[in-house]
Amino acid sequence: KLPDFVELKEVGPRDGLQNEQKWLPTEDKVEWINMLSDSGLGEIEYSSFVNPKWIPALSDARAVGKQLKRNPNVRYSALVPNMKGLEFALEAGIDGASVFMSASETHNLNNINKSIQNTYPVLKSVIEEAKRAGKKVTGYVSTVFDCPYEGKIAPNKVLSVCEKLLEFGVDDLSLGDTIGSAVPSQVEKLLDELLTRYPREKIILHFHDTRGMAIANIMTSMQYGINRFDSSIGGLGGCPYAPGAAGNVATNDILYLLHGLGIKTGINDKKIQEASLFIQNKLGKVLPSRSLLASGQ
Ligand code: HMG
Ligand code: MG
Repeated sequence: KLPDFVELKEVGPRDGLQNEQKWLPTEDKVEWINMLSDSGLGEIEYSSFVNPKWIPALSDARAVGKQLKRNPNVRYSALVPNMKGLEFALEAGIDGASVFMSASETHNLNNINKSIQNTYPVLKSVIEEAKRAGKKVTGYVSTVFDCPYEGKIAPNKVLSVCEKLLEFGVDDLSLGDTIGSAVPSQVEKLLDELLTRYPREKIILHFHDTRGMAIANIMTSMQYGINRFDSSIGGLGGCPYAPGAAGNVATNDILYLLHGLGIKTGINDKKIQEASLFIQNKLGKVLPSRSLLASGQ
């Protein structure tokens, strides 16, 4: 049986923009996120408090956080890699902190400049401090299926990272198909392992759509009762440390699927369409979402 309700977290302003070469002025980011805030989305990841030398496109995270018009029905979260990032994020205003690391050693090293073992103490203190400040904490685990450097990642590597993050106190886990390479049998294999250990409410899936497999993988996940997914408006984005990776599943496309199936999301399609056209126009390029293309706008 498929879920009656699916919760989407909009990651376009973070995952979508982080790899963007064209600088999007702060006021445009704020206007765009305000449009998204008004669409019925329950959570928006609005930016990333990482080292701005690594992700220049989001170097204005603090200004964005301070200027947002906050809708009380929306949870505003941001990516936080370390204590310095957490300090800035708390100052700018967050409801939730998202910490992140990889199941693959090489991807972890390339992405956050540390081994998996050396990442644990950093994230432990960030998670504990964020919880003390009363924030919800999500733990992203990247490369849960395949790694661009190491190839297939065994589920036990994913499980050991999940175990640690939960032990440190994360509220939920977002599992990333970072390079968008998984097929449904891989999703089944991982969910078979995870769901014998953890309740499905703790699991979010984060599919990149590099090979057009995200919708098939989401359908498979929903058959397991998973009802929380990350998506990016228009399909904007890609990971700077995962060569060739495309953006997340487009919010527009997953909404087309969910609403077509009669699954509720609380999200207004028309407002998502407007916010898609806004960002498409600002960035001056056609976004890859298939249902956005099909709308002929
Ligand atoms: P580091 O650069 O390796 O080293 O940072 P450091 O900790 O020694 O710091 C070096 C310099 O950066 C210092 O400044 C720090 O103050 C500064 P300096 O003294 O040289 O002038 N610094 C910071 N400045 C601002 N905010 C901070 C911060 N931290 C240090 N928070 C770090 C380590 C993890 C911060 C770095 O490697 C980094 O920023 N990595 C970011 C990588 C990233 O953002 N990747 C993309 C997001 S993850 C993703 O997309 C995957 C996901 O979507 C799921 C999926 O798809 O699988 C989540
Ligand atoms: Mg991602």
